Amino acid sequence: MSSMKKKLYIETLGCAMNVRDSEHIIAELSNKKDYELTQNLEDADLILINTCSVREKPVAKLFSEIGVFQKRGKKGAKIGVTGCTASHLGEEIIKRVPAVDFVLGARNVSKISEVVDKKHAVEISTEHDETLYEFTDYRSNPYKALVNISIGCDKQCTFCIVPATRGEEISIPSDLIIQEIRRAVEGGAKEVMLLGQNVNNYAKRFTAGSDKASSFTDLLRLVSEVEGLERIRFASPHPLHMDDEFLQEFATNPKICPQIHVPLQSGSTNLLKRMKRGYTKEWFLNRCQKIRQMVPNVVISTDIIVGFPGESEEDFEDTIDVLKKVKFEQLFSFKYSPRPHTQAAEYSNQVPSEVASRRLIELQSIHKEIQEQSMQSQVGKRVSVYFEELKSGNKVAGRTDNGRLVLVDGSEELLGKIVDVDIDRASLTTLFGKVVRQ
Ligand code: 5AD
Ligand code: SF4
Repeated sequence: MSSMKKKLYIETLGCAMNVRDSEHIIAELSNKKDYELTQNLEDADLILINTCSVREKPVAKLFSEIGVFQKRGKKGAKIGVTGCTASHLGEEIIKRVPAVDFVLGARNVSKISEVVDKKHAVEISTEHDETLYEFTDYRSNPYKALVNISIGCDKQCTFCIVPATRGEEISIPSDLIIQEIRRAVEGGAKEVMLLGQNVNNYAKRFTAGSDKASSFTDLLRLVSEVEGLERIRFASPHPLHMDDEFLQEFATNPKICPQIHVPLQSGSTNLLKRMKRGYTKEWFLNRCQKIRQMVPNVVISTDIIVGFPGESEEDFEDTIDVLKKVKFEQLFSFKYSPRPHTQAAEYSNQVPSEVASRRLIELQSIHKEIQEQSMQSQVGKRVSVYFEELKSGNKVAGRTDNGRLVLVDGSEELLGKIVDVDIDRASLTTLFGKVVRQ
C-alpha cells in the first residue's frame, strides 16, 4: 500500500553544517507537515536544494540543478532553495527562476514549515537566533551524530562569504548540547561530531541565560562525561584559538579522537595578514609540531587556497614549505574564488587564473605523495574501527579513531560496533583489512 504522505527530496551541497541543517529540515517537515523522505526525484512533491556559496562553482551548481528538477520532477512539484546561496542571493533566485517556490536562508532553518506553503516566500535574515530552538532529532546515520554547538561566524577572513550568509556567532548553551548528545547516544550513536564555523571560539557569546561551559575546552570536558559516548570529533577549529590548554585536553582526553582539521589557507605570513587570519607561518608550524609531539598517531587535515590576490611565487613557496613540514594526511585545496560581500574581492591584484591553476596542480601533486606514504604506512597495523555503513558487495565501512576510512568484508552485525581490524592493503583514500576475531 502506498503511503498518503507527501514526498520530500532534498539535495545537500557544501559542508557538514549543511548536512545537519538538511537533517533539521527533514525532521521539521515530517513532524509538522506530514512529509516523508524519498531518494527519487521523480516521486517528490517537494524538491529542496540546500546550497553552498563558499565558491562560485557551487552557486552555478544550484542553477544547473534547478534545471534538472524542472525537467525530471513531477508536474506541480514545489521547488525550494535553502542554505548559504539562499541567504546571499535571496529574492534574486526567484527573479531568475520564477519556478522556485521559496527561498530560505542558512540561518532560518527553523522557519521551514512556515515558508513551505507560501508562494514566493523569502526568509533570509542573518539576525535570526536559532540557538534555543529545539529541532527534533533526525539523523541520516544513527551511529554518529552531528551536533551544532554554535551558529554563524565572527571572523572577518577577507576571502570568506560565510559571515554574510550565516551571520554573527552565537553559542548554543551547553546543557542543550549535552541533552542532545545524550539522546543521540540512547539512539545508538557512539560518536559525536561537534559542529560550528569556528568551534574553538565557543562560549564567546550566548543569547540566553548563564552557561556551564566557559570555553571550547570546557565544553569538550563536559561532552566527554556523557556515558556511552566513545568518540568525539569537531569541525572546524581555527588555528588561532588552539591554545596550550586546548591542546592538553585534545591530547589527554581518551574520548577525543586523534584527528584534527587545522585550516592553513596560506603558508605566507604576508598573505595571512591580508586574509586577516590572525596567525603567522611560525605560529601555525608551532601548533602542528606540538600536536604531533603530544598525539603520536594524529591525523591532521587542512584547507589551502591558492591564487589569493597578490600571491607571489614566494608566498606560494611558503605554502609548499608548510605542506612539506607538516605533512598533512589530508588536504582540501581550492583556487581562490572572489565572493560578493568580501574584502578580498575588491583587491586590485587578482592572480591570473592560469597561474592559480598551475599552483593548484603542483600543490596537489606534492600532497599526493605525502598521502600515499601515510596510507601505505598503515599496512600491517592493527587499528580500532567504528563501523557505520553497509556498502555493496558485502562490505562494511568504518573509521579508525584518527578518521581513516576502512573497508572490510562483513555484514550488518558489525554496524555500531568498535572492532579491531588488521590492515592488509591501502589505496590513496581507503584501508582494507580483516576483522580480528576475538
Ligand atoms: N575561494 C576559495 N576557497 C575559499 N574557501 C573559503 N572561501 C573561499 C574563496 N573565496 C575555502 C577555505 C575554507 C574552505 C571551507 O573553503 O579554504 O576553509
Ligand atoms: Fe558552504 Fe560555508 Fe555555507 Fe558550509 S557554511 S554551506 S561551506 S558557504
